[in-house]
Amino acid sequence: MKNKTDASKKLWGGRFKQSTDALMETFSASISFDKRLYDCDIEGSIAHCKMLARCKIITSAESKKIIKGLQRILRECDEGRFEFSVRLEDIHMNIESRLREIVGPIAGKLHTARSRNDQVCLDIRLYLRKEVEDIVGELNNMCKALVAIAKKNIDHVIPGYTHLQRAQPVLLSHHLLAYVEMMLRDKERFLDAYKRINVMPLGSAALAGTNFPIDRKITAKLLRFPEISHNSMDAVADRDFAAEFCSAAALVMMHLSRFCEEIVIWNSSEFGFLELSDAFTTGSSIMPQKKNPDAAELIRGKSGRVFGNLVSLLTLMKGLPLAYNKDMQEDKEPLFDTSETVKVCLRIFTDMMKSAKFIPIATKDLEASGFLTATDLADYLVLKGVPFRDAHEITGKTVAFCLEEEKTLTDLSLPELRKISKRFDKDVFAHIAISNSVDRKNVYGGTAKKQVRAQITRLTKKLKQK
Ligand code: ARG
Repeated sequence: MKNKTDASKKLWGGRFKQSTDALMETFSASISFDKRLYDCDIEGSIAHCKMLARCKIITSAESKKIIKGLQRILRECDEGRFEFSVRLEDIHMNIESRLREIVGPIAGKLHTARSRNDQVCLDIRLYLRKEVEDIVGELNNMCKALVAIAKKNIDHVIPGYTHLQRAQPVLLSHHLLAYVEMMLRDKERFLDAYKRINVMPLGSAALAGTNFPIDRKITAKLLRFPEISHNSMDAVADRDFAAEFCSAAALVMMHLSRFCEEIVIWNSSEFGFLELSDAFTTGSSIMPQKKNPDAAELIRGKSGRVFGNLVSLLTLMKGLPLAYNKDMQEDKEPLFDTSETVKVCLRIFTDMMKSAKFIPIATKDLEASGFLTATDLADYLVLKGVPFRDAHEITGKTVAFCLEEEKTLTDLSLPELRKISKRFDKDVFAHIAISNSVDRKNVYGGTAKKQVRAQITRLTKKLKQK
């Protein structure tokens, strides 16, 4: 009996004769990670207890005593004085057992009309509600910071890329606001997931509902849930809301990771579009000249675990028969890890961007390589009546000529251009100037300064609303 503990002492020990294997006890316990749900668990229990009293299932004196005990446990947990025990398996039983020490046998009445199966769903839903609120707050901060950077650097032109080849000049602000659009969609996704998180499962009990005349609406109201679950089996078996949370998180990390990739590139000496502050970079232990963009690299790297967490959760759920299965205890670590990772990444990213210095690129450098305004040259010919396909061909020849002569488009003289096409005139040079190229993209959603300014105004207003 050396490696056995006495199962008859457990809260569920009644039907057990033999003890739990010691390794099994640790193996099946979730307290090491679900202890972080203590405040949600207590909040849920207090509401449940009040409801039981209002429905006259327990007396009001009993309810008061239990609630006082729970509040004391909350303080003990908050102050780090609560002793969590693996033998008590999970957060629910740790709290109930402590409650029994404080208020005596009436502690056992708290679990009337409830099971750990609906209790744990409630706890996760309460936890995720708060996490979504925090993440949405972080997303808002990030968007505000990016809009402020866009506003401050409104004149700043950078090369826009496709295939990581210089394509057309764009405003840096336009590029940054592209990410704001993504982040706002991410915010919407979280808020949408919130609607399905925000459903109260308590009262479903183990799977079938309960024999007691409870009023689930009272509990829902006390816990500020606008809706209660409609099917007790679904309620205890459902983790869709958790998968949706992880899915929204995976998308936001994918966006952050792309952005970080650009920051790493922009911060390189080859690009030199940006200088990250010392606060968000680190040195090399061997190469003294190095200033590495670790924050951006780590965020890019951490996207992997967040994607993994989504896959873990989906895989964990995919073969489970209704209703609750112990497998579902494995839902928590991916959830906690996802939320922690997303929150810290959003915060670090925002601060990294706020402290970064964007280095203006001189017009001559923008002109010097990549033929950024070649499309404008073709469009110029179209304005002169040349069909676009021919204009494309003529411009291609012009670029080829430049490459032979080692010249940029703006280096060419009018006679040189006219040798390629008689349609070129002296107004061509203004047409292919970088800033004119940008300002002519004056379509809604385009990179012209006027359009980008309008978006800054729109986004600033939008971000002021809750
Ligand atoms: N620790 C469990 C979990 O996280 C709580 C629910 C346990 N229910 C049960 N019938 N064993 O899933």
